[in-house]
Amino acid sequence: MSATASASALGLDDPAHRPGGDPLRRGGIAIHADRLEVRHGSKVVWSNAGFDVRSGEFVALIGPNGAGKTTLFRMLLGLHYPSAGELTVLGAPPRRGNPRIGYVPQRHSIDEDTHLACETLVRLAYPGDRWGPDGRFPALRWGPRVRLGPERAAAARALADVGATELAAKPLGSLSGGELQRVFLAEALVGDPEMLLLDEPLSNLDLRRSRELVETIHGLVRSRGVTTLLVAHDINPMVKCLDKVIYIANGQVATGRPEEVLTSESLTALYGVRVEVLHDSRGNLVIVGGEDDRGEEGG
Ligand SMILES: Nc1ncnc2c1ncn2[C@@H]1O[C@H](COP(=O)(O)OP(=O)(O)OP(=O)(O)O)[C@@H](O)[C@H]1O
Ligand SMILES: [Mg+2]
Repeated sequence: MSATASASALGLDDPAHRPGGDPLRRGGIAIHADRLEVRHGSKVVWSNAGFDVRSGEFVALIGPNGAGKTTLFRMLLGLHYPSAGELTVLGAPPRRGNPRIGYVPQRHSIDEDTHLACETLVRLAYPGDRWGPDGRFPALRWGPRVRLGPERAAAARALADVGATELAAKPLGSLSGGELQRVFLAEALVGDPEMLLLDEPLSNLDLRRSRELVETIHGLVRSRGVTTLLVAHDINPMVKCLDKVIYIANGQVATGRPEEVLTSESLTALYGVRVEVLHDSRGNLVIVGGEDDRGEEGG
């Protein structure tokens, strides 16, 4: 039985499961994948993936380096085509430049000579089709607030929602790794997307900063109802907030609630070799074994 098949046998996409919070955009299917396969050239990265993500869910995407996590994001963004199977995003096939999706790519530090202010970066990400032909919102072009424009209000709201209001005027090059991730998150949020794709936003953050950023993201999922997929290598900072895990390894994709996917049995089936999921006294997970039999913490 494949990992995907065993996941569905466990009833992993149960609509009854949802943590508390006001349902805003919840309930519908935000992502549907069926027998999905992806290749780079002739190389199959993973295949036979079948899963649903519901609107308003907070989902972790985990798996070893090179497993194909970023590739899945690129498919959702319409930047890479499936080689087989079906994929729908927000009710339609993926398309490039979809303003309903906010994306934080897997990226590294910003050069310290970057003088662009954080607020400017966020404001410039405001979707272009909401601006008038002269760069201003049409309805306000002749009004008294002509120079403010909705993009400034949206940038201020996005920075506030990620706890970065005080960073607005700072140059990007002066920020710490954790501050930078908050500003990138605001950049992805400024168009009020229905879906957020966050590729390794916790990399380079210490445990405390990781937990703080996860709390912020979880707050956004709840308050804005934004469906969020987050790639991480350590599941522990977020495991208690998650609705679902997508685990990619060994060319296969397993999905389900964390307590269902992150078990010795499920991961052993996925990798095809013995894997142990250990729990410490504080509820942290350690995943031992897997693809190359070196320890891999939390994913
Ligand atoms: N443009 C490309 N051309 C050819 N192969 C590629 C390309 N992009 C990715 N790959 C290959 O596809 C596989 C999956 O890559 P991907 O970047 O999706 O992995 P990942 O799970 O995001 O890894 P990481 O955790 O290191 O970011 C890797 O073997 C990678 O070398
Ligand atoms: Mg990646």
